[in-house]
Amino acid sequence: MTTLLTPARDNFSRRLKDLRISVTDRCNFRCAYCMPREIFGASHQFLDRKALLTFEEIARVSSLFIQCGVEKIRLTGGEPLLRRDIHVLVEMLAKLKGIKDLTLTTNGSVLTPERARLLKHAGLHRITVSLDALDDPTFKAMNDVGFPVARVLDAIENAAAAKLTPVKVNVVIKRGVNEHAVLPMARHFKGTGHIVRFIEYMDVGNTNGWRLDDVVSAAEIMRLINAELPIEPASANYKGEVAKRWRYRDGSGEIGIISSVTQPFCANCTRARLSAKGQLYTCLFAAVSHDLRRLLRSEASDEYILGTLQSVWNRRDDRYSEVRTSRTVNLPKVEMSYIGG
Ligand code: GTP
Ligand code: 5AD
Ligand code: SF4
Ligand code: SF4
Repeated sequence: MTTLLTPARDNFSRRLKDLRISVTDRCNFRCAYCMPREIFGASHQFLDRKALLTFEEIARVSSLFIQCGVEKIRLTGGEPLLRRDIHVLVEMLAKLKGIKDLTLTTNGSVLTPERARLLKHAGLHRITVSLDALDDPTFKAMNDVGFPVARVLDAIENAAAAKLTPVKVNVVIKRGVNEHAVLPMARHFKGTGHIVRFIEYMDVGNTNGWRLDDVVSAAEIMRLINAELPIEPASANYKGEVAKRWRYRDGSGEIGIISSVTQPFCANCTRARLSAKGQLYTCLFAAVSHDLRRLLRSEASDEYILGTLQSVWNRRDDRYSEVRTSRTVNLPKVEMSYIGG
């Protein structure tokens, strides 16, 4: 039934190609740049189970997104592996015709060898693991729950052993906090086949107290690595790839640098985001969303919902990172933990 209608295009002629689905707003980490403990503490109200889209609702809406042009689906959170039986959802999505890439971003804390195999068996193609440092004092302070580095490294190996490859490793760099982790990370993963991506710290949401001074620029990260481990630019794998690829001159692999602050990439942004409670966001920095859960729980037909998706995308004119100013930083924005990265 998934025949592609007209691929949706927005106001800047950008297609809708990627869907990022948050399956839970919960996380067992409290990274200060995402879920600072002062706000996401014991009294924070997470979404009720009934508020979350069911797997059936996610699969239905995903099949409609595919008809609008989506080819790639990424499951995120919060921490997506905290959602019970997530492999069942993976299995449902993997069966949808038209999905070329099905992947998931995790903090790795519960990615056991069995879990990795179960996800692979369900049809997940690959995995991205977040890890912000290789030394315990820095990493434990950043995840703010004392979670050790070794267990995330195990998770990366579990994903690789289950052939959820290439495994990518996301590192958010924050000045004065973990810039010293750049070289150890690059050294550690060089030659392993895993792809480390260094991410500029962004002003997502309104709770992380972001300041431009906290950002270590992509150019600086590149220079740091190149000084010890010579790298050269590599061409993008696909148009609109978020990470700029660099390969080691000695042929021992590649890294990525994600420069959403200093060199924004909105011009080619083909991403839509679905929150855990079914709101559609057309930008990571959006304040307004479209309530798809209400539609999915009404009598609305597939055709009607499809028309809504098309019209939301057709009206889209987001390019937050290109127009970021000191004023936009303080505008209301959705929190990262509601829509994933
Ligand atoms: P691949 O599919 O492996 O190429 O991954 P990806 O480029 O989709 O990367 P991933 O989903 O791991 O995103 C990495 C990080 O890039 C995210 O955690 C965000 O910090 C940032 N990022 C991803 N998409 C966007 C986007 O649309 N806008 C901005 N500003 N940042 C983004
Ligand atoms: N800036 C950049 N990246 C972020 N992430 C979470 N918050 C931020 C931020 N403020 C990243 C995480 C993870 C992905 C889901 O998003 O480190 O890799
Ligand atoms: Fe959890 Fe990832 Fe946010 Fe850290 S960045 S609190 S691991 S969702
Ligand atoms: Fe896309 Fe918004 Fe990110 Fe720009 S800031 S790349 S429009 S999600």
